[in-house]
Amino acid sequence: MLSRAIFNALAIFASSVAAGPTWHTSRGEDLVKFLERATAPTLNFHISPNASIVTPDSPEWAEDTTRWSTWSAPTFSVAFLPAEEKDVSVGLQYMTKHNIQFLAGGGGHGNTVTLAKAKNVVFINLEKFNKITVNSDNTITVGGGARFGDVYTAAYGAGRELPLGSCSCVGVGGASLGGGHGRLQGKYGLIVDAIISMRVALWDGSIIEVSATKNSDLFWAMRGAGHNFGIVLSFTYKTWPLQNNGLTYNADMTFTNASLEGIFGVINDLIPDQDPGLALDLFIMTDPSTHETVTYLNIVYAGPKEEGDKFTARFATNKKSSESIERTSLNVTMVPWSQITHQAAGGMIDLACIDGASQNVYTANLKKFDIAQQRRFYNTYIEFIKNNPLAINSMIFYEIFGQKAVVEQPADQTAVGNRNYANILALYQTTYTDESVAPAADAWARSLRDEVVKPEYSGYDIESIYMNYAHGNEKLEAMYGYEPWRLERLRSLKRRYDPKGFFNFYNSVLG
Ligand SMILES: Cc1cc2nc3c(=O)[nH]c(=O)nc-3n(C[C@H](O)[C@H](O)[C@H](O)COP(=O)(O)OP(=O)(O)OC[C@H]3O[C@@H](n4cnc5c(N)ncnc54)[C@H](O)[C@@H]3O)c2cc1C
Ligand SMILES: *[C@@H]1O[C@H](CO)[C@@H](O)[C@H](O)[C@H]1NC(C)=O
Ligand SMILES: *[C@@H]1O[C@H](CO)[C@@H](O)[C@H](O)[C@H]1NC(C)=O
Ligand SMILES: *[C@@H]1O[C@H](CO)[C@@H](O)[C@H](O)[C@H]1NC(C)=O
Repeated sequence: MLSRAIFNALAIFASSVAAGPTWHTSRGEDLVKFLERATAPTLNFHISPNASIVTPDSPEWAEDTTRWSTWSAPTFSVAFLPAEEKDVSVGLQYMTKHNIQFLAGGGGHGNTVTLAKAKNVVFINLEKFNKITVNSDNTITVGGGARFGDVYTAAYGAGRELPLGSCSCVGVGGASLGGGHGRLQGKYGLIVDAIISMRVALWDGSIIEVSATKNSDLFWAMRGAGHNFGIVLSFTYKTWPLQNNGLTYNADMTFTNASLEGIFGVINDLIPDQDPGLALDLFIMTDPSTHETVTYLNIVYAGPKEEGDKFTARFATNKKSSESIERTSLNVTMVPWSQITHQAAGGMIDLACIDGASQNVYTANLKKFDIAQQRRFYNTYIEFIKNNPLAINSMIFYEIFGQKAVVEQPADQTAVGNRNYANILALYQTTYTDESVAPAADAWARSLRDEVVKPEYSGYDIESIYMNYAHGNEKLEAMYGYEPWRLERLRSLKRRYDPKGFFNFYNSVLG
């Protein structure tokens, strides 16, 4: 019930985002579009019949360039939508020869601060590279511009599953290249661990196969730092047979404020040998219609209902103690695996697909929760929303997914850094459309990140960040690993495969 109210309020928020403010020139023209066109490069190369080049005055412009977050976003002067591999090749040859900067894009969910360095660049929109094929050997080949939702459907239809992101609208491209965190990771590893091969267009337009046997040095680098090296036209992943008749356990619950210590205590107990199939999402958020602070836990379990219920039961106690948990709502369902992104957390994850607000996010990886600190954070969150109601959709968000298969992969085989340092992904996420709250939002989220990342709170002796969640100003070792050979090797491959630095906009290994 509660989640329905939040859903409705967020839907109203979504339509207000879509409206947005516009500025006009004296001739009544949209100022942003005018400026973008004035500085647009000419793209004078041959394209295939289904490819297109879209300018800011085209009716398709907004749809073809919309991003999840306007905060620190790249800006585009022209959008190029290749339809065939040859288009990508010819386009890259032309642009790199004329020193025209570009950014490839899939789902548009990237929001590191470094993307803002891409100003008035050509947007290579990969949305036409969305073909998904389940092969006869049960691998799945997915276009570099596909989104997770379509991969779930295709794999499920063929009776297969694989580790994928939690949100249907996120691009397979950006997410896979940075590691790929997902609910099945405890069973199968990160998304990069499921990659068998990639077809990659390099800066000079050449197209190569990248796998354990072909260009294996790049295969290492692109599984964790892939945004640095080229454009992936397609990924081929391993898959596994659907488990549990294709059904996934889903439980959504809310709690009283006084339950906070108990909830964090149970999660801390579950973490050390977390069941590989168990994925917890904990939200501290505000119901925009009542302004009530809501503590919302979503449990997804890759297993039968009886097993899932055992985890759920731990989040309700009768005993009166400082760690008692009083649950205010519970909704347990068994959901087809392909629908989990839509059903989990009462549909809230789909709402996270809404494009176009400012999303300024600070994150850190934690070993366990410091419970007293979490109570303080909760209080600062309430204070922040009270003082900044325009940022009411902001939240504290923790993802606690199984680690077994993640840490079992040989760490030196991929460019994923700090693999053993990601029990909890902590996100302090501020969301708003009115820029007047930007400074307060930044200060609040940054202060939480700065505090939580200290070893005495995070439980880790190093600062570790999931590179795809990075704010973008953390030290590179926090994303790519502290062993000196890692950044050395990445940089030497960067010199070889992207010698002119065209792929430098996303947490570049060069800093
Ligand atoms: C709501 C939300 C949910 C998320 N959920 C998850 C999750 O469950 N698991 C997870 O691991 N991450 C998740 N993320 C983080 C996500 O991995 C990153 O934001 C990622 O960059 C998104 O990729 P994209 O293709 O959507 O974004 P884009 O902004 O289109 O791309 C991001 C970067 O990747 C590059 N890129 C994209 N596609 C390609 C390609 N085919 N070849 C080469 N480069 C490419 C772009 O050039 C850009 O530099 C989530 C983010 C958000 C906002
Ligand atoms: C172009 O797109 C249309 C419609 O999607 C499709 O039928 C056609 O085969 C495509 N042509 C080429 C050359 O890919
Ligand atoms: C939440 O609970 C704590 C302790 O249980 C109490 O001190 C605090 O006042 C409560 N806060 C709110 C906003 O209800
Ligand atoms: C329970 O969860 C399911 C799946 O997310 C959802 O469809 C349904 O509306 C929820 N029921 C309530 C009462 O919230």
